[in-house]
Amino acid sequence: MTIKKLGIVGCGAMGAGIVQVGIQAGYEVVTREINDVFLQKGLDRVRSAFEKMTNKGTITPQQKDDALKRLTGVTEIAGLSNCDFIIEAVPEDISLKLETFKALDGICPPDTIFASNTSSFSVSQMAAATSRPGRFIGLHFFNPAPVMPLVEVIKTIRTEQKVFDIAFEFVRSLKKTPVAAKDNAGFIVNLLLTPFLLDAIRALQEGVASVADIDAGMKLGCNHPMGPLMLADFIGLDVLLGGANSLFEEYKETRYAPLPLMKRMVTMGLLGQKTGRGFYDWSDPRNPKAINL
Ligand code: 3HC
Repeated sequence: MTIKKLGIVGCGAMGAGIVQVGIQAGYEVVTREINDVFLQKGLDRVRSAFEKMTNKGTITPQQKDDALKRLTGVTEIAGLSNCDFIIEAVPEDISLKLETFKALDGICPPDTIFASNTSSFSVSQMAAATSRPGRFIGLHFFNPAPVMPLVEVIKTIRTEQKVFDIAFEFVRSLKKTPVAAKDNAGFIVNLLLTPFLLDAIRALQEGVASVADIDAGMKLGCNHPMGPLMLADFIGLDVLLGGANSLFEEYKETRYAPLPLMKRMVTMGLLGQKTGRGFYDWSDPRNPKAINL
């Protein structure tokens, strides 16, 4: 099977990053947002990333124009009906994801492959809501998608081996490194990353050290690109909470249990970078300031 046309449902932070990677790799991409306002915002995000790369000299103006010509934006889900491979990157809300896949299932030919970029829900649950569980896979990109080299490829117990192989090769064609994981909660990375981030929040909650010092500890002591509390803000505390809930529900182990401080922060809308405040004040996104909680 040759993938010619790629569909990407959702053009927010993750969707726009995947759109960028797709058109850069030479695919025709159709992206869908729920209305014109969100669609314009998503397309502007992609265009601005290409502007930055052109200004830096990473790509030529011609390469930018060629890539952007391969991109189409739509607001109707029907606009994705002739895509060979569709990646869902809508917000982490299971009802929304199920609704999206049911709608796609109704308009796409039976051989179209569906992929979900979910970080916290069961790929099997979404696959089971369609008529094509064998042609359904998880493709978990990392944020920021254009920069992070890894994509987890999630095979359910119903995914056909040839579909898995197509998805694995597709990830390579995006110049990313695929790794295979079973459809267990957290796959590989979030299974290991979530307890680490929760422990950092626990350390803060218990007064071990300040936000700035916990982050400096892991950044300068272990050479992490950003400290765990800044990473929690970067991921979004709501997303982290959703992921922790899924892990806790699956394994019933206290190390995955969401912490009171984190739950209160989500309740108060302190979600991190996207709301301007979390463990950091993000008023100046280039220079976030640690908050003494
Ligand atoms: N989109 C596109 N490019 C971006 C970008 C974005 N959103 N953010 C940064 N970049 C590019 C910059 O343009 C720059 O490119 P260049 O080297 O060609 O100049 C390069 O990335 C480095 O960026 P900066 O110089 O601005 O800043 P840093 O060197 O501090 O890197 C970072 C920023 C790449 C975000 C780095 O801090 C990092 O790797 N942080 C950890 C990110 C991480 O762990 N992500 C995974 C989160 S977990 C997840 O996504 C799973 C989910 O399920 C929860």
